[in-house]
Amino acid sequence: MAQTSRTMSFFSCFLPFFSLVFLLQALQISSSSPTPITIPLSFSNTDSYADLYQKLSHLALASLARAHHIKNPQLSSTAFTSTTPLLPHSYGAYSISLSFGTPPQTISLVMDTGSDFLWFPCTKRYQCKNCSFPGAREITSFSPKQSSSIKIVGCLNKKCSWIHPNFDPQTSCGECQSLSAKNCTQICPPYLILYGSGSTGGIAIVETLDLPNKKVPNFLVGCSLFSSRQPAGIAGFGRGPASLPSQLGLKKFSYCLLSRRFDDTGESGFLVLDGDSNSGKKTENFSYTPLAKNPIVAGKSALQVYYYVGLRRISVGMKKVKIPYKYLAPDSDGSGGTIVDSGSTLTFMSSPVFEVVAGEFIKQVKLYRRAENIESLTGLRPCFNLSGHDSIVLPELKFSFKGGAEMKLPLANYFSFVGGNEVLCLTMVTDNIGPALTTGPSIILGSFQMQNYNVEYDLLNERFGFRQQSCK
Ligand SMILES: *[C@@H]1O[C@H](CO)[C@@H](O)[C@H](O)[C@H]1NC(C)=O
Ligand SMILES: *[C@@H]1O[C@H](CO)[C@@H](O)[C@H](O)[C@H]1NC(C)=O
Ligand SMILES: *[C@@H]1O[C@H](CO)[C@@H](O)[C@H](O)[C@H]1NC(C)=O
Ligand SMILES: *[C@@H]1O[C@H](CO)[C@@H](O)[C@H](O)[C@H]1NC(C)=O
Repeated sequence: MAQTSRTMSFFSCFLPFFSLVFLLQALQISSSSPTPITIPLSFSNTDSYADLYQKLSHLALASLARAHHIKNPQLSSTAFTSTTPLLPHSYGAYSISLSFGTPPQTISLVMDTGSDFLWFPCTKRYQCKNCSFPGAREITSFSPKQSSSIKIVGCLNKKCSWIHPNFDPQTSCGECQSLSAKNCTQICPPYLILYGSGSTGGIAIVETLDLPNKKVPNFLVGCSLFSSRQPAGIAGFGRGPASLPSQLGLKKFSYCLLSRRFDDTGESGFLVLDGDSNSGKKTENFSYTPLAKNPIVAGKSALQVYYYVGLRRISVGMKKVKIPYKYLAPDSDGSGGTIVDSGSTLTFMSSPVFEVVAGEFIKQVKLYRRAENIESLTGLRPCFNLSGHDSIVLPELKFSFKGGAEMKLPLANYFSFVGGNEVLCLTMVTDNIGPALTTGPSIILGSFQMQNYNVEYDLLNERFGFRQQSCK
């Protein structure tokens, strides 16, 4: 309920309605006073991510079952591979550049495996509130008028239902139900998406996606007219029908996350899109764990978008930390379990999980004094003051997954210097707000923990793989 009212007030405050009318006029399509449809955010752990305002996720969309029905058949048959640079930014996310339209216009987008819709800033009148981020490029808007291949998605187009969960054309596309239905010009209702923080809204279009060695016509993308708190557009890589991997019929994709030391330097890691259905082989030196089944919970379609993995054990030093099973596997409410999310910067652990992990570090680290002043300043903990010591000795952190895959993290992936080179803090976050935030995954593996890892989402074989490597 709280969610709905937040949505409504957002809408009445910020919807620059004239922009929509302007766009429709520019495209010579009559406006039929479309009713905005709200896509609610049914999972709100992210609100507690303190300064991680760039957390990008939670597009509530269709179920996985539906995804299988509506996969675009003409695209899924063609094999291709494409490699794209992946840039780290100080606002926490990794971005890619993609080209859309005829002639192509290049747009920078945040790569997000935690959502499944792709949208970009659109038209000259694009408005973005609270969108200045350190390291964010100047926002470039896609110009619909300069493209000959743009089409507005009609109300009866099945792609319209990809963005609007529980969409019923019978009731939502009234004008198309009459005798003249074949000529119906009613457009797909505008979308409004709320993220953990921030939002975006606009209208659905199809455009030509111009990949380095392949042109993909009729790619569904959001032409956003307004946003709040978005450093760039978003490319959703989640498990829904509208996501980039689904629309391209990818068999797998992988990315290599460059160390955060290279934030905003222009150095990049890379993202590989692989459409070859013969790519069933394991990649050299990769460890794999099966992608876990997503919990199916009525009213929580956002859970269908995530990549769940079977995290079984967390070890600190030689010690296996005791985590109750209910946090490791999702229950019938969709609470619990672990997801991998490129749009999250720091790994999130629900408070009962975090407390045992942090507690074990505190227990084992005897050499350094706690820096409680820094803990209260940053919200990170534990923090240790290394003053007077010339070496760093901290316990190893290891994640063990179903099937035996182990991720032994390099120290730089879970401890960071905070303001100088004296104090180190554990760089993972938790919610200490209480029981209200217990739904959704218990553990969200963020990109910071996967710096200098090459990670692979093998959709064909339903498995998640990784290996440590330099990503330059
Ligand atoms: C921008 O952010 C500031 C501080 O977080 C907030 O007070 C203000 O209401 C925001 N403005 C908009 C338009 O979202
Ligand atoms: C629908 O379009 C067809 C072909 O363009 C045209 O012949 C027909 O008159 C149109 N019908 C209506 C009701 O506009
Ligand atoms: C795989 O691991 C072996 C042994 O550590 C190493 O020599 C080799 O270079 C690795 N191959 C790749 C592609 O990383
Ligand atoms: C770290 O410890 C040293 C020595 O006790 C102290 O002088 C310094 O202020 C501490 N640093 C921080 C950031 O608390």
